[in-house]
Amino acid sequence: MPLVTVKELLEGAERGKYAIGAFNCNNMEIIQAIVQAAEEENSPVIVQASQGAIKYAGLEYITMLTKLAAEQTKVPVALHLDHGTSFEQIVRCIRHGFTSVMIDGSSYPLAENIALTNKVIEVARAIGVSVEAELGKIGGTEDDITVTEREATFTDPLEAKQFVEATGVDAIAVAIGTAHGIYKGEPKLDFERLKKISSLIDIPIVLHGSSGVPDEAIKRAIDLGVRKVNIDTNLREAFVNKARQVMEEKPKEIDPRKILGPAKDEMKEVIKEKIRLFGSSGKA
Ligand code: G3H
Ligand code: ZN
Repeated sequence: MPLVTVKELLEGAERGKYAIGAFNCNNMEIIQAIVQAAEEENSPVIVQASQGAIKYAGLEYITMLTKLAAEQTKVPVALHLDHGTSFEQIVRCIRHGFTSVMIDGSSYPLAENIALTNKVIEVARAIGVSVEAELGKIGGTEDDITVTEREATFTDPLEAKQFVEATGVDAIAVAIGTAHGIYKGEPKLDFERLKKISSLIDIPIVLHGSSGVPDEAIKRAIDLGVRKVNIDTNLREAFVNKARQVMEEKPKEIDPRKILGPAKDEMKEVIKEKIRLFGSSGKA
């Protein structure tokens, strides 16, 4: 089926009290792994592209590959820009066919974040593209974007309410103790903060930096209103570890398909586990 918007997937998630997995892609194998995993779990899914993915594969390749994968399956697939940093890039993504965009204005003061988000919403709404924003600063590194531990700040619940009222954004990413990349210790999520945010706003909440967060914590976050869970690092690990294993076991292998194929399958299994954890299996 044609690509769908994140907004409609998150509306279904809100009704059913589950979350949709948003998985980062960088190449054809990863897009196939994401969509095949969703198909095998009969789940809606979000394919998302970060700054690094766009730099690596190009906007056109990512869009065309994801559109094709979506058209060949019967489960709903959305294509989302992850951590969009500029208005210009967002317009380019929309023009190429992304059905959802994130404008990450979290590095700006509140008023500027609101203004930038509203500028994006004005364009996106006109053609039915959904918009995610970020409030508070999520730590760690996601491709080109690094937020040090010192810079990371948790989302203020009252600011979240103010932000949502001032923008009417479709979904909001919050900083409650997760971080991008590999965790040094076990992440401790601030559930009280999440509960407060949830009680003050009535739009879906997005959890970033979700790789390495214990399953029980993810489930609790979903119980408290998280409807989109972003996963990147766990997918990279699965893919590269398998590719490395194959190359170590068969050092003479020169067929890329025999390395990338098993890596893709390994990644697909991880995505299926996440989909089951998020509760979206069977919800397509
Ligand atoms: O925006 C992408 C995610 O927040 C991914 O975070 O690499 O820690 O899974 P992760
Ligand atoms: Zn993120």
